[in-house]
Order: sequence, then structure tokens, then C-alpha cells
Amino acid sequence: GVIYEMKGLDNLERKLEKALKIKKAIIVSGNCDEDELALKDMGKTTAMYLRNIINDNQIIGITGGSTMAYVAEGMPDEKKKEGIVVIPARGGLGERVETQANIIAAKLAYKLGGSYKLLHMPDNIKQDDLKVMIKNPEIKEIIDMIKKIDILVFGMGRADVMARRRNLKEETINELLSRGAVAEAFGHYFDMKGNIVGEATTVGLSLADFNGIENVIGVGGGEGKAEAIISICSLKSNLVLITDEGAGRRILNLV
Ligand code: BG6
Repeated sequence: GVIYEMKGLDNLERKLEKALKIKKAIIVSGNCDEDELALKDMGKTTAMYLRNIINDNQIIGITGGSTMAYVAEGMPDEKKKEGIVVIPARGGLGERVETQANIIAAKLAYKLGGSYKLLHMPDNIKQDDLKVMIKNPEIKEIIDMIKKIDILVFGMGRADVMARRRNLKEETINELLSRGAVAEAFGHYFDMKGNIVGEATTVGLSLADFNGIENVIGVGGGEGKAEAIISICSLKSNLVLITDEGAGRRILNLV
């Protein structure tokens, strides 16, 4: 029955926290790879967790992706705190419009009764153009705010899946994979041990910024993301992981 199941997941959460050496794991039932309901549930669960930890005048950073889109979707439409600002954590990463960090940040801000700032950056920009763009006062303002994020909510992806979704050249993808890339988060590609093996040319959150943020909520589910989740969790011990049963069980088989 339901109670038995809840206990089962509770047990799985504690095992996962131990195995991944992280602050907290929250697991929803199901497997996102097979069932969109699990993805929806993960979004809602993340929204409720976030709602409970927010304080007045905080800056919330969020990334793009379908998981984060469900976080904004799952947030109740009811103001909770004063002076909340929501910002995207990274610039253009080649997402479809509905899953762009800008759109998600704006939607989340609206739901929370706060305000938002957007980071207007073209996708796949050249290094030289990037250097010019970061001098733009509006872009600089957001980049400075990113350094002050109080709570970061971010999606985690598989390196191969994300590299393809971003239309990287086959050659670049192969190079990333040969360097052992298994995970992608906030525009960075990581190997199994959490070493950076590649980075998208855009601006925003760096790994150093990430390391300095007190509240970090990583969200990703589906069996297929197990390796990616292990990699990302190795980056930070005070991370809160929100995942599903499919990924959770697979991770425990791997570590
Ligand atoms: C992207 C983020 O928008 O979403 C990535 O920039 C993340 O860092 C990805 O890996 C996850 O996507 P999804 O659709 O699997 O939630």
C-alpha cells in the first residue's frame, strides 16, 4: 500500500544520500524515461521544496530544460515572500523557446510574486564576440547578480544528449566523449569524477560560483541520467538532489 511505498522511498533516499555523500536526496516514484508523470511530479516536488526554503529579498537562479520547465509549472501561483528576484543562471544554450532559462525564470518569478531579470545572449556565440558582450551594462548587471545567487535550481543532463541537443559538431561531441564526458550542467561538461571536460561558449554561472552558493538544488530523473547524476553530485557535498526512483535505484547499483 501507499504507506509501505513511502517508507520504501524514504529508505532509498537515505541510502542515496550516503552513497553520493550529499546533504539531502528526495525521490519521487516512477521513472521519467518512461513516464512524463514522474517528470511532472519531480517538478512539483522541487517547487514545493524551493518554496519552503525561500526567504525575503533572495536571488534565485534557474537553468533551462524540460525538468526546470516543470518546476515553474508546478509552483503554486501565490506570493510568498517579498523582494524575490529570479534570474537565469547561464546565457543562451540553444534550447527551444519553452525550455529556455529566460522564459522559465520569468514564469517562476511571476508565480512567486517576485521580479525577474533576463540574460539576452545569442546561442553558440564566438569567443571574441563574447568578450564584447560581457561589457554591455545590461549583461554585466546580470552577470554580477549571478555571483550573488542565494538559491540555485538546476537541471542535469547526459553529456551526449545535451551535446546533440545543442547541435555541437560531431567532431566536438566525439572529443567530449573521448575525454570521458558523462554529465552536463549549467553549460559545463563533466566526467564521472566531476572534472570539467568542456564548456559551452556563453556567460553566466561558473563552477567557482556554483561552489560558493549555499543552497543548491539539482534536479534530474530517469534511469538514463544515473551516471550524470553521480558526476554532478560529486561536485558539492551540500547539494540537494531531487530525482526519481528509476535513477535512484540505478545509481545505487553503480556506486
Ligand atoms: C538545460 C540546461 O537547459 O537543461 C542543462 O542548460 C541541463 O544544464 C538540461 O543539463 C537538462 O534538460 P532536461 O530537459 O533533461 O531537463
